[in-house]
Amino acid sequence: MKEVIIETKFTEYSSVNELSSDLKILSEKAVEVIDNAYAPYSEFYVGAAVLLENGEIITGTNQENAAYPSGLCAERTAIFYANSKYPNVAVKAIAVSAKKDGDLLSQAIPPCGACRQVLLETETRFKNKMKVLMISKNSVLTIDSAKSLLPLSFTSDFVK
Ligand code: THU
Repeated sequence: MKEVIIETKFTEYSSVNELSSDLKILSEKAVEVIDNAYAPYSEFYVGAAVLLENGEIITGTNQENAAYPSGLCAERTAIFYANSKYPNVAVKAIAVSAKKDGDLLSQAIPPCGACRQVLLETETRFKNKMKVLMISKNSVLTIDSAKSLLPLSFTSDFVK
């Protein structure tokens, strides 16, 4: 019998002002777009901003649907759009933020499992670590790689 421990490291900042200027701008974009979310069912509004290696920022918001599972999270909306627009450009970072009752959440929102899977595939596909930033009213959590969010992950290696 063998037990294996997988550790994950994240960094907590108290404000976006402590980030490098490109990541600060990215984080502010993630907050700015929240109001574009279409979330009449959950009333949980999420914004995501993706920073590409070419310097461009692509944003996305959650898009819900009366047929609930047809909706999509903000992270996947943004990542899929970025990868569709620039299929050969790696993703450097993604910032995520959310509002409830008109207010920015006081706790950082970590990407859901399905979004983690998609972030990991993008990171693997471009062989480029993606920083994940979770922006809330009281803190900014950062993780250096999407892989750290998904231990024991299912990747393309199993399929190919
Ligand atoms: N949601 C996101 O957009 N990102 C996440 O990481 C978690 C959840 C959305 C999906 C749904 O529209 C709403 O938040 C409530 O789950």
